[in-house]
Amino acid sequence: MWMFSLQRRYLHSSLCLMKKLKGKTPAEQRWLRRQLKDPYVKASQAQNFRCRSAFKLLEIDDKFRLLQPGYAVVDCGAAPGAWSQVAVQRVNSAVTDPELPRGMVVGIDLLNIPPLDGAHFLSSCDVTDPATHAKLLELLPHGKAHVILSDMAPNASGFREMDHERLITMCLSLIDLAEKILQPQGSLLCKYWDGILAHKLQETLSSVFSSVRTLKPDSSRKDSAERYFLARMFRRPVN
Ligand SMILES: C[S@@+](CC[C@H](N)C(=O)[O-])C[C@H]1O[C@@H](n2cnc3c(N)ncnc32)[C@H](O)[C@@H]1O
Repeated sequence: MWMFSLQRRYLHSSLCLMKKLKGKTPAEQRWLRRQLKDPYVKASQAQNFRCRSAFKLLEIDDKFRLLQPGYAVVDCGAAPGAWSQVAVQRVNSAVTDPELPRGMVVGIDLLNIPPLDGAHFLSSCDVTDPATHAKLLELLPHGKAHVILSDMAPNASGFREMDHERLITMCLSLIDLAEKILQPQGSLLCKYWDGILAHKLQETLSSVFSSVRTLKPDSSRKDSAERYFLARMFRRPVN
């Protein structure tokens, strides 16, 4: 009997998969198959996160305690908003716990970011644009953030070296932002794609942060070049 029900369930899920794959290109089919098998995609749906990337930040924060209640956080490249969801919970910016200090989360993206209780979003804004920096200075308490997060990524061109260089340039621009808005002793977490310029980014970060480490969370796909630099204890550059 149980064998019959197992076969029926298998047949049902195979039919659903076939329906989903119908009319898709081979590349889209590969992507869809991977999404449907991915435990983090399933978990993000079950826990109402906007995408699976939430688990990378949860994992990093569980280990390094980056986000504390009361902190002001800037989330660069925030759309669709999963990292901001994590940050809102951890800094208590939606005041889910009235006993704890209230934090602030400001998310920025070139794209539209759907609203989220406890977060302030700057949609259609470029993180590298000085006009965005000016908006941040106005929004943040005393113009300062405790943490800058960046999961920013350019649209992939398919040319690995070129995409790597573009993302490194975007990460380097975060140091200009840090000089304007990051508190002394503040932290920066930024995604990069590994490649020849990763050392240059690490060196530049080390010139203004006392500690810089490379992270590859378990929830980051093994076959991806994605890595994170966690830079802590910001100090102003010596002129
Ligand atoms: C991988 S997604 C971020 C996912 C997000 N962390 C989340 O958990 O929902 C990368 C985002 O970076 C944004 N982005 C790329 N360049 C940007 C820039 N110069 N300024 C602002 N956002 C940028 C893209 O529009 C894209 O939405």
